[in-house]
Amino acid sequence: MAKNKIDLATLNWEEFYKSPLEQRIKFFSKEGRLFDCLFSQQFPRKLMEKLFEIATRIRGIAKSKEGLDWLQTLLSHKRSMLYFVQPSTRTFVSFQSACHILGMKVSEIRSTSTSSELKGESAEDTIRTFSSYADLIIMRHFQEGMVEKSAWLLNSTPRPVRVINGGSGKDQHPTQALLDMYTLHFSFSKFGGIDNKTIMMVGDLKRGRTVRSLSYLLKNYKGVKIIYVSPEYLRIEDDIKKFLKKYRISFVESDDLVGNLKAADAVYMTRIQDEHDINNETKDMDFSNFHLRKEHLRLMKKNSIIMHPLPRRLEIDVEIDKDPRAMYWREERNGMWIRTALIAYMFGMEDTIFNFN
Ligand code: NCD
Repeated sequence: MAKNKIDLATLNWEEFYKSPLEQRIKFFSKEGRLFDCLFSQQFPRKLMEKLFEIATRIRGIAKSKEGLDWLQTLLSHKRSMLYFVQPSTRTFVSFQSACHILGMKVSEIRSTSTSSELKGESAEDTIRTFSSYADLIIMRHFQEGMVEKSAWLLNSTPRPVRVINGGSGKDQHPTQALLDMYTLHFSFSKFGGIDNKTIMMVGDLKRGRTVRSLSYLLKNYKGVKIIYVSPEYLRIEDDIKKFLKKYRISFVESDDLVGNLKAADAVYMTRIQDEHDINNETKDMDFSNFHLRKEHLRLMKKNSIIMHPLPRRLEIDVEIDKDPRAMYWREERNGMWIRTALIAYMFGMEDTIFNFN
């Protein structure tokens, strides 16, 4: 392991980025603990379930004022920087709230137009600057690989600070996948857990980073089946299919939402990611066959759940919000708790949290 690390440390960014992910992952851990959270593939089942436990413990402690006050002492000596240069509501606010729950002081930049990047400073120099002031950088960026590059860069400076990926281009959104898994874990706790469940993902599977990150995490469970439902043009990419085949996860592709509903334990709806259009190519396409409507509910299993990373457009009829199977508003809350758990874990706080009484 040490040898790999030394080898990787001698590479320039282009060489590093081209090396296999299993190798790169090691570079983002220190002393056997996750140092930077960049990819879903950094979370084996054991670590993921540990985070679920920490999150559940924290939300229990936070029920009382005494507990909440105590949580705020845990990282009161640490500062975080939220650098979100792509639109965000939930991810931003839930990370900010997670930092507040743990007592961290939070700074933020939400646009390159308000940082020195407008004066021509590179994103890399901007990130290095943050490391002078913060112990943790939580970052959302429009460019694939940029969050990883920032973590890579900081790990080679005398002041490496932790980096969390809050969404990187079309590529990954690992903490969304963690909150999706936490939601599945909770919802199926009385129904045999996530093993052997059928998860249907619907919408823009080609450019949706949440679907990609979630697909990676599903490898942690046995007997899971995935049904990918999308228009032909927005099918899931080959790299994900290759990954699923490697880990023998069964999946099918279809363009039939209604016909597949009765088989699904979870229906994960997504928005068309038209910000990635090159020539407005999806503007005039009709996506109504990929919208979940009230009349579809009777086709779904009684104990199934409906998920969405949000924001939604027309993918889920607002009338469905009242159905007990609608889980997307709970996902928002789960996101805050799992992000709190992740930060607490990254700073080695889990034993202190479990010992609270
Ligand atoms: C998602 C994202 O940013 O990828 N939103 C989120 O973080 N909850 C999904 C989306 O924008 O469609």
